[in-house]
Amino acid sequence: MKDTIRLQKYLAGCGVASRRKAEEIIAEGRVTVDGEIVTAMGTQVDPTRQEILLDGKAVRANDDFLYVLLNKPQGYVTTLSDPQGRPIVTSLLSGITARLFPVGRLDLDTEGALILTNDGELAQKIQHPSHEVTKTYEAQVMGRPSDKMLQQLERGILLEGKKTAPAKLILFARKSGTSSIRITIHEGRKRQVRKMFQAIGHPVIHLKRIAYGTLFLEGLSTGKYRLLTPEDLKKIFIKKIPLQNNK
Ligand code: URA
Repeated sequence: MKDTIRLQKYLAGCGVASRRKAEEIIAEGRVTVDGEIVTAMGTQVDPTRQEILLDGKAVRANDDFLYVLLNKPQGYVTTLSDPQGRPIVTSLLSGITARLFPVGRLDLDTEGALILTNDGELAQKIQHPSHEVTKTYEAQVMGRPSDKMLQQLERGILLEGKKTAPAKLILFARKSGTSSIRITIHEGRKRQVRKMFQAIGHPVIHLKRIAYGTLFLEGLSTGKYRLLTPEDLKKIFIKKIPLQNNK
């Protein structure tokens, strides 16, 4: 991993100010690196080896817990490194210097809501089966599954010898031989949604996770992230199955 970072990005990631404001602060000559005033934009710094002061005071990465909601694009892996050199989700967190890790996974070809944090306890709570955190997906599938098939998926079907837990499904659009279905599940088995639709003979063409609990992506564009507030974190654990909410 690269050890240096642009000064304005470092300052923003430490929570000093927004990236733009950090640039202004640098231009005003308020920042020194190893005792030298730096006003050149884009100066690379290594915060682990260099002393960075703002108005004479040390600037350090905030060690508080951070919670981020990312709209993961397709083609990104949710591991922290990839032997095959594919892009990793944390590379999208520009401006955040804390080491965050993804809570659970999303397949390479699945896009959408992914929480990242450095709070191991909360990550475990979200993933622990006892909390039954619901995850809602929009799946575009081949063909038009019958109501009976959708009901079967709702009740649970055998996948690799184990019945899936009850799910909630709603078919909300049909277009040129495909159907768009909103599905809410609380299990996190590998490629579960794809396997469920495969099992009823309607393979998934496109899959996007739109919510954890009632925490929705809303207006977050693909590849973008936002920091979560304590209010947002509460929404993750709300079990009411969201069917009508915004994406
Ligand atoms: N189900 C899937 O099939 N893939 C995902 O990435 C998440 C849930």
